[in-house]
Amino acid sequence: MQNIAILCSGGDVSGMNPALKHFVEYTLQKNLTPYFVYDGYEGLIDNKIEQASYCDVSGIINRGGTKIGSARSQRFMQKKYRDIAKQNLDTLGIEMLVVLGGDGSFRGLDIFYKETGIKFCGIPATIDNDINATDYSLGVDTALNIIKTSIDAIRDTASSFKRAFVIETMGRDCGYLALVSHLTSGSELCLIPEKEYDLKSFEDDFKKQIKNGRKYFIAIVSEGIKQDSSEIAQWFENKIGMESRVSILGHIQRGGNPTIYDRLMAYKFITHAVDGLLAGRDESVICYTKSGFEFNSIEEVTSKTKELDAELLSYLDKP
Ligand code: F6P
Repeated sequence: MQNIAILCSGGDVSGMNPALKHFVEYTLQKNLTPYFVYDGYEGLIDNKIEQASYCDVSGIINRGGTKIGSARSQRFMQKKYRDIAKQNLDTLGIEMLVVLGGDGSFRGLDIFYKETGIKFCGIPATIDNDINATDYSLGVDTALNIIKTSIDAIRDTASSFKRAFVIETMGRDCGYLALVSHLTSGSELCLIPEKEYDLKSFEDDFKKQIKNGRKYFIAIVSEGIKQDSSEIAQWFENKIGMESRVSILGHIQRGGNPTIYDRLMAYKFITHAVDGLLAGRDESVICYTKSGFEFNSIEEVTSKTKELDAELLSYLDKP
């Protein structure tokens, strides 16, 4: 029997628990022995590694977050701690590792492989959808659905009070969540880091819209833009002449019942990752693109900043 472990690293996403469930079930079916590493790379260093069974994953498919915890580990960046991690894996005879996380998590993993030969497969998991070489990262769909529900609710109160709402989404330097939410919620303004903007250019049009009967505005702004959301709200008050409020959605975007799409993607990502490791792919990330699933090197995934989908971006210019 070969031993295989899984860990979650970086920001948690809804979809990690369904992935853990399928990991246990699929590896057992493949006659492997599954292990959970608790609390990301921190748990690898602190030896929080336990054999997993069906019981551990019953009743978790519908839960957001991750049952085994996650962390952003600084210690794993240091060789002395990676050496301890390797010893812990050796003691348990674990030679394969599946890691759910973002590109930062994968960089550490590559160094680890080169030093130790522990085989790995990375699964892109971040609500930001900012990982190069994959069109989809686990958790994005659930986050978008949470944002959609929030915007729909805010629209109710915005329309009742004649107010402008500035709704801030997560995403770090990537405007994907904000852009898709804008296109699918009918908001009037969308500001993202990937596109230069000048608020002045919207002023005449927005004032005209008010004259023609518009009662409220919804603006969706990504956390990575050059201004604070409060400044955008001030602009609505001072230049457009409408009372405004800011709503920073924050960490609610990271939680919630995983959507069907994320549950299915979790299932597929895990299947490909385990199959890839068993087929001898020792250091790859399983990516999802328009042509389906494909394995990419860490270099390919982490060396470039992901560019926002050109088609989606082009829709920002269209009425
Ligand atoms: O990377 C995921 C993410 O949720 C980003 O969108 C956000 O900027 C960041 O993590 C928040 O990090 P933390 O949970 O550590 O505050």
